[in-house]
Amino acid sequence: MANEARVVIDLDVPLHTISRHVYGHFAEHLGRCIYDGFYVGDDSPLPHEGGIRLDLVDALRELAIPNLRWPGGCFADEYHWMDGIGPREGRPRMVNTHWGDVEENNHFGTHEFMRLCELLGADAYVNGNVGSGTVREMSEWVEYLTRAGASPMAALRRENGRDEPWTVPFWGIGNEPWGCGGNMSPEHYAEEARRYATYLRDHGNNSLYRIAAGGPDDDVRWTKSLMEALQCFGCAKEPRGIFQAISFHYYSMATPGDAKGSATSFTDDEYYWAMGKAQDVERVLTAHSNVMDVYDPGKKVGLVLDEWGTWWDVEEGTNPGFLYQQNTLRDALVASVHFDVFHRHADRLVMANLAQTVNVLQAVILTDPESGEIVRTPTFHVFEMNRGHHDATAVSTHLVERPAARVDGEFPVELVSVSASVKDGRGLVSLSNLDSTEALDVVLDLRGQQVSDVSGRLLSAARIDDYNRAGDAAVTPTSLSTAAHPRGLSVTIPPHSFATVSFAVTN
Ligand code: AHR
Repeated sequence: MANEARVVIDLDVPLHTISRHVYGHFAEHLGRCIYDGFYVGDDSPLPHEGGIRLDLVDALRELAIPNLRWPGGCFADEYHWMDGIGPREGRPRMVNTHWGDVEENNHFGTHEFMRLCELLGADAYVNGNVGSGTVREMSEWVEYLTRAGASPMAALRRENGRDEPWTVPFWGIGNEPWGCGGNMSPEHYAEEARRYATYLRDHGNNSLYRIAAGGPDDDVRWTKSLMEALQCFGCAKEPRGIFQAISFHYYSMATPGDAKGSATSFTDDEYYWAMGKAQDVERVLTAHSNVMDVYDPGKKVGLVLDEWGTWWDVEEGTNPGFLYQQNTLRDALVASVHFDVFHRHADRLVMANLAQTVNVLQAVILTDPESGEIVRTPTFHVFEMNRGHHDATAVSTHLVERPAARVDGEFPVELVSVSASVKDGRGLVSLSNLDSTEALDVVLDLRGQQVSDVSGRLLSAARIDDYNRAGDAAVTPTSLSTAAHPRGLSVTIPPHSFATVSFAVTN
């Protein structure tokens, strides 16, 4: 027998805007994300523009990627941007010590990244180097990218073939300063963040949204220290004029160092552990948000989750430093659960970036090394099915009847996850049935507006460990039947499935 749930959705009770930027992405010089992923080089037989793979760009355009973070991650804190400009053959090489200890030829650099953003229609989120860089180096990078008119860096950019400055809305001040970004204390980094941010200038019309790097998981000491740094006693500037946001990272992974488990072969308990870990992001996000509220009740300072996603053992036979993992329906549900949480907390959460876009960790695209084919992972489809939430207004959503939570593992697991929004006269409900064996009959108790023109979509598969591979897209959206119900609508969704229901709303 199916589980039953009823969700009251108050279509006339707007909560806050869900920034499209919570659907952001992350591309690091790591494994096959940039090289052999986004960038195939000038000599590739694959369709490309200046080495950027165009069928990959086309696929990603289906997601309307709002922003792309680059060049890391840990790599950002050993990246020296001047090595990645000018004629490619003359660019210095380096060793990517974090990721596989391989040689990096710097063929994908600033111009290539900005072109990629243009092709994707995505805003650039550039992450600067605090760990092994200098204030001058970072300040000059901003000048190179964004300054028009006469200036040393604008002149250098022109020498390299780009006359007009680019627009760069988002800037990261280092990465994971508690670890690979310099092993600093929260207090030391907070001072560094203020110092660096001071010299990250707004040139012309380019207005930077400066993001200070915060702590891992629920380590709120970093958030507290950075919020205190923003108090800026005696400073001439408005406190939030120094940096505008604080980030944190949250991975659905076993304790770092432990075996993380296979991406494709897992027990029911391991599946529920992942669902619980994904749901726990709500507690973590709330913890950071609560600290910020003490200093900033008006929520002017943004919270950014610029790395999230699953982290499993690498696929057999691949370089352990390349973090290449498969992506099943379990990963898709981890994503759908995160998005419901993001929608609920979008009054503070202004951006989030899945780690990472292509061939690394919870990728939305895998490129098959043999056939060269592009594989859209189950996670890709969650991003695509949720597109209607971009810049939509979240509405009040309450699960008033639901199956009992599972409480026998490390985390309690609610078996249903849901969120809803309204945009341009249409409502969109996202629903996840996390029960691994039971279907779910759901009543969508839609209140406050008239509803018409209903359609549903479903992402499911026979097995929770099903995944897509070249020539076999086992996990792909299909249509979902919906039925009228005295309270609104009803749908039945199979076990371990994600669904969306869309409808027109009128007064
Ligand atoms: O996304 C992979 C790595 O995870 C990033 O480089 C780092 O910031 C985090 O530890």
